Amino acid sequence: MPYTLTTPLYYVNDRPHLGSTYTTIACDALARYRRLTGEAVTFITGVDEHGQKIQRTAEAKQQSPQDHCDAISDTYRELWKRWGISLDRFVRTTDKRHLRLVEQFYGRVKDSGDVVSGRQTGWYCVGCEEFKDDPSDAVAPECSIHRKPLEWRDEENLFFRLSRYQTQIEDLVNREDFIQPTSRRQEVRNFVAQGLRDFSISRVNVSWGLPVPDHQGHTFYVWFDALLGYLTALLDDGGEPDLDRLEACGWPASIHVIGKDILRFHAVYWPAMLMSAGLPVPDQVFGHGFLTREGQKMGKSLGNVLNPETLLERCGTDAVRWYLLRDIQFGDDGDFQQQRFVDLVNNDLANTIGNLLNRTSSMARKWFAEAVPPHTAAAETDHPLALAAAATVTSVVESMAGLGFKSASEAILQLAISANGHLNDTAPWSRMKQPGQEVEVGDDLYAVLEATRIVGLLLAPLLPDLSDRILAQLGHALKEDDWLAQLSWGGLASGAHLPQPTPVMQRLELEGEL
Ligand code: MSP
Repeated sequence: MPYTLTTPLYYVNDRPHLGSTYTTIACDALARYRRLTGEAVTFITGVDEHGQKIQRTAEAKQQSPQDHCDAISDTYRELWKRWGISLDRFVRTTDKRHLRLVEQFYGRVKDSGDVVSGRQTGWYCVGCEEFKDDPSDAVAPECSIHRKPLEWRDEENLFFRLSRYQTQIEDLVNREDFIQPTSRRQEVRNFVAQGLRDFSISRVNVSWGLPVPDHQGHTFYVWFDALLGYLTALLDDGGEPDLDRLEACGWPASIHVIGKDILRFHAVYWPAMLMSAGLPVPDQVFGHGFLTREGQKMGKSLGNVLNPETLLERCGTDAVRWYLLRDIQFGDDGDFQQQRFVDLVNNDLANTIGNLLNRTSSMARKWFAEAVPPHTAAAETDHPLALAAAATVTSVVESMAGLGFKSASEAILQLAISANGHLNDTAPWSRMKQPGQEVEVGDDLYAVLEATRIVGLLLAPLLPDLSDRILAQLGHALKEDDWLAQLSWGGLASGAHLPQPTPVMQRLELEGEL
């Protein structure tokens, strides 16, 4: 079965922020993990380029919307490259192929009798690109997310007959596995239980959108168009953007990973649109939490936005990925704290893992002719680190499959801690001074190096760069199509040359605020 996963398609109203970087890194870890277990993965990301928000941003910059979108889309693409994101498809909703797909999809929905004309009145937030059903203040209401005035709308729109899908959507959101994590399910169930209302899918006052084929002056509502970007991306394999090809290309998506604020669009509106078009719904929607900084919401007005480009330049990918994946339970909200970030990176990666490798490899080189020490059968089977490593592999594989990046990281770290503990307990540096201890010391150093190799391999989906450096230092290389087999104990060959050790992880020394 192909494994198709997506990030949201990010609005190009502004440069990438930490929120989009967070989702993309998490998806990258997941995509890498799935590929390593032998699955055929299509990892989709991209940008959402239409709508009033983007139109206004471009106007404020006195740029054409297209020029504006081109520039910001390039920024996204370049940034993901610099972060080493292993994406397979990058979709732009201003792509001509996307327009063809949207028209075809709309045709299907219309043929199902699910498009009707109606009058849309209500309060709209341009920042969210969403009608707010229940503004707290009816006179001068504000968006609670953007803290900006809502705008009153009263216009003739085309509506999608969501109300017809009440029972099917209820069944879907009641499924055990559809909405993850489970803590987010109830909110969606409550929303559906209130009764689904038709939603408008066209606008008459927004020129920066895809034209609705049979309704002059109407453009598609940005969310109707954006969600379809997932399909355009999947069909972008050199063939035609034709819905009939979708299932052969890997649809339905195995998982949409999104932030909790856009769960309703993905778990309710989107599946109903797909049902109407006669297409299968995604297997799962995962709504992760929001990041704050030092306990505060990040925002331009507060001047505390953490720029992913600065983070990357000053700290590197491994440090940032480790912090985001290891410290925050994926699904929950998380807080970026600079001191904690520095401490975790230095303690876990530079000290626990980096020093473990460095000192073990130095000892082995010194006493065993710059090579992996010889070992007896005991080091193969009964060594306590062999047992610990096997348990770690099982738990990491299980955690990663369920997007448990935090528990996977902790388990890997724990194996490195055990290996360090073993070194301290057995003290090869003093035993080597006693006669007749060479065989035992060889076994112990072999076992520690082997545990370190497994640490390096297990880090491959989470911190691919550090993983490469660790393995290179052991004279070992990741075989991408054989990862699970490589994780078996005993993969390091005694006698293999150990290169001169260099620190695999620089300590973070940050001066001032990021
Ligand atoms: N364009 C829509 C998605 C369309 S998908 C077909 C959109 N774009 S967005 O750029 O505004 O948001 C992208 C993602 O960033 C969302 O999943 C949102 O939850 C996430 N985040 C925005 N701020 C965030 C944090 N502070 N923390 C974590 N994620 C956050 O919505």
